[in-house]
Order: sequence, then C-alpha cells, then structure tokens
Amino acid sequence: MSDSLLPTDQLHRPLRDLRISVTDRCNFRCTFCMPAGHQYDFLPRPEILSFEEISCLARIFARLGVDKIRLTGGEPLLRADIETLVAQLRQIPGVRDLALTTNGYLLERKAAGLVEAGLDRVTVSLHSLDPEIFARVNGLDLPLDRVLAGIEAATAAGLRPVKINAVVLRGVNEHELVDLARFGREAGCTMRFIEYMDVGTVNAWEPDRVVSAREILDRIEAVFPLENVPRERPGDVAHRYRYADGMGEIGVIPSITEPFCGDCSRARLSADGRLYTCLFSQVGHDLKTALRGGAPDDEIAELIASIWRQRADRYSEERAEAMRQGLFAPIEKVEMFRIGG
Ligand code: GTP
Ligand code: 5AD
Ligand code: SF4
Ligand code: SF4
Repeated sequence: MSDSLLPTDQLHRPLRDLRISVTDRCNFRCTFCMPAGHQYDFLPRPEILSFEEISCLARIFARLGVDKIRLTGGEPLLRADIETLVAQLRQIPGVRDLALTTNGYLLERKAAGLVEAGLDRVTVSLHSLDPEIFARVNGLDLPLDRVLAGIEAATAAGLRPVKINAVVLRGVNEHELVDLARFGREAGCTMRFIEYMDVGTVNAWEPDRVVSAREILDRIEAVFPLENVPRERPGDVAHRYRYADGMGEIGVIPSITEPFCGDCSRARLSADGRLYTCLFSQVGHDLKTALRGGAPDDEIAELIASIWRQRADRYSEERAEAMRQGLFAPIEKVEMFRIGG
C-alpha cells in the first residue's frame, strides 16, 4: 500500500492517532469507570495480544498515517514488562509521539525504566487532592501519596510534559478545581479537566453529574486569569489555556457540552486485537484473527484501511443533539476500561 492511499473516513477524517489498550485489568475501581462491586469478566490470557503482535499492528497503523501512539488499559503499568513494548514501538518509523495514560499507582518505580525504553510522556489521572475523596473515587480506599509520588518520579525522570487528568464530578470534587489547578502550576504539570462522559454502561452516568467546561473555566479563571492557546494539532481533545502570569497551562476536555468529533482522527485497539473507531462504539472489528492466521501485512493494512474508510462515527455530536431535543437515551457500548478512554 503506498502513501497516496492513506485512508480517510466518510467525514474526510484521516487516521492519525492510535490508542492501544494493553490490558483490560485495573488496580483501581473508579466510580465513573469500573465501579467496585460489579463482577467483571476479564479477557483470558490467550486472547490478549503479545507485544510482537501489538508492534506488528502498530507498524501497519503507522504506514496508514498514525504518527501518535498512546498506551492505555485498564491500567497499562499492570502489564508485565511494558517497557519492552515501549522499546519496540519506539523503533517504528513515523511515530513521533509515544505516550501513556496511567492512574499513577505504580509509576514511581516504573518512570525511569519507561524513559529508558523511549517513552516521550505520561498523563496521570488524579481526581482529588483530598485523601478521603481520592480513596472513595478509586473505589478501593487506595492512598493518594502513591500517585503523588508517581507524578514526582515522572517529572524527575524527564517525561515531559506530565499531564494530569481530573474527571470533574458534580458534588464530588467540583470544589477542588482551584486546588487542582494550583497543584498543577506548582508541580509544573499541565492539569486537564474532563467533563464526566457517558462511556460504557456500568457507571450509571447522569447528565446532572456533569460540570461543564464553561463552569470549570469560570471557577479557575476567577482565581488565575487565563488566555487562549491554539490547539497543537487538529483532532486534539483538549481546549488549551495558559495562565496569564506565565505559570504554565491547563486543558479542558468538553466532550459533553462542546463535542469535538469533527476532526477526530483516533483509532483504538483493544487488548484482544479489536479495532474500535469510536470511544462509544458498540462493537470492535476483529484484527486478531487475520493477524494470527498469518495474513500478510498488506492484507491487514487493507483490512484496517477499509474499516477506516467506512467510519462515520460522531457519537458525542449525536448525543449533544439528542440532549438538546430531550431525546437522549443510553445505548449499550464498550466499557472504558476495555479501550482505555
Ligand atoms: P494528548 O495527546 O495529551 O492530548 O492526550 P489525550 O487527551 O488524547 O489522552 P488522555 O488519555 O489523557 O484522554 C483525555 C480524556 O479525553 C479522556 O477522558 C479520554 O477518554 C478523552 N478522550 C480521548 N479521546 C477521545 C475521543 O476521541 N472522544 C471523546 N469523546 N473523548 C476522548
Ligand atoms: N468520563 C470522563 N473521563 C473518564 N475517564 C475514565 N472514565 C471517564 C468518564 N466516564 C478518564 C480516566 C483517564 C482518562 C483516559 O479517562 O480517568 O484519565
Ligand atoms: Fe480508574 Fe482508569 Fe482504572 Fe478506569 S481504567 S478504573 S478510570 S484507573
Ligand atoms: Fe471521536 Fe467518537 Fe469521541 Fe466523536 S465521540 S470524538 S467520533 S471517539
């Protein structure tokens, strides 16, 4: 397949970002993702792609236009020897940004090795600075200190920029927005505030639990004046703002109130080798059978390209339209922890 055949989808969107979930397991049970008390059926080991299989697919995705790869989970640092996969992905020509999203619990001891293997940067989830709220949100009473130590270790190891994701939940952590912003400023990290999304089905999402990007910005701006920053590239999910006093920047991810499907160039690969063309997809396309059946790379490239050419997903925009008309009704969709957000 030549470069002139880089696929675009039904809405003329190229394929540029690949999010790879390396495991569906997690050591947290966040209330908004994987609430404790549910019985989860995790993938059996033989179903999970090996590092060689993941790298082989990633190489093919790179030929189709992907230049940015993010490792996710579940919790990606639970996958043994994840550094080995990072090193393999680092070798792929055309991959100019290699990142990982983690809950940070194992990061303190992993950060240096990840840098050595060639990881460019990490994003750590941190939804509260109050140990009690943190423990409640992670569902397992786990201590905040470990994640703070992970963030520090990531910065010390040279993973830059360290971004921090906070999902903003009405009545849970909304009063901490300014504290979280201050924490990011002082730690030299880019704090990102995420509108609570209706991903998956187990989290019992309700629209009235969402704190809008506008409200988030108003609360922060009242204390720290902000200025707009242009997007780094089309398709990025965060609206960026810099502190007027030069102390870094924040991002706000407004999937509910200002959906950004128009230039969404993200594909998601699940740990069992399925390609999801939207965070809110109901089904994934099986790539593993072709891969394990020994299909040549060109054939797999054509399979991926043909899936991408048929893609017409714009779930968040459709949801916003339905909500405006009072017609929103939840549908069955893939769980967040299976495709890593
Ligand atoms: P950067 O490359 O640093 O911009 O990473 P990112 O923001 O794409 O990745 P991250 O894993 O930090 O995701 C941030 C939040 O945005 C998470 O809540 C994701 O679920 C959400 N998100 C990422 N991609 C999409 C998307 O395509 N659609 C929607 N609706 N949300 C997304
Ligand atoms: N809404 C918004 N963000 C979510 N995340 C997990 N579940 C949700 C949700 N329902 C976040 C994680 C992580 C990122 C990949 O997505 O906390 O930071
Ligand atoms: Fe929380 Fe991320 Fe684990 Fe989901 S995958 S339970 S958001 S740490
Ligand atoms: Fe992309 Fe789907 Fe998110 Fe829209 S809802 S931005 S199409 S992943």
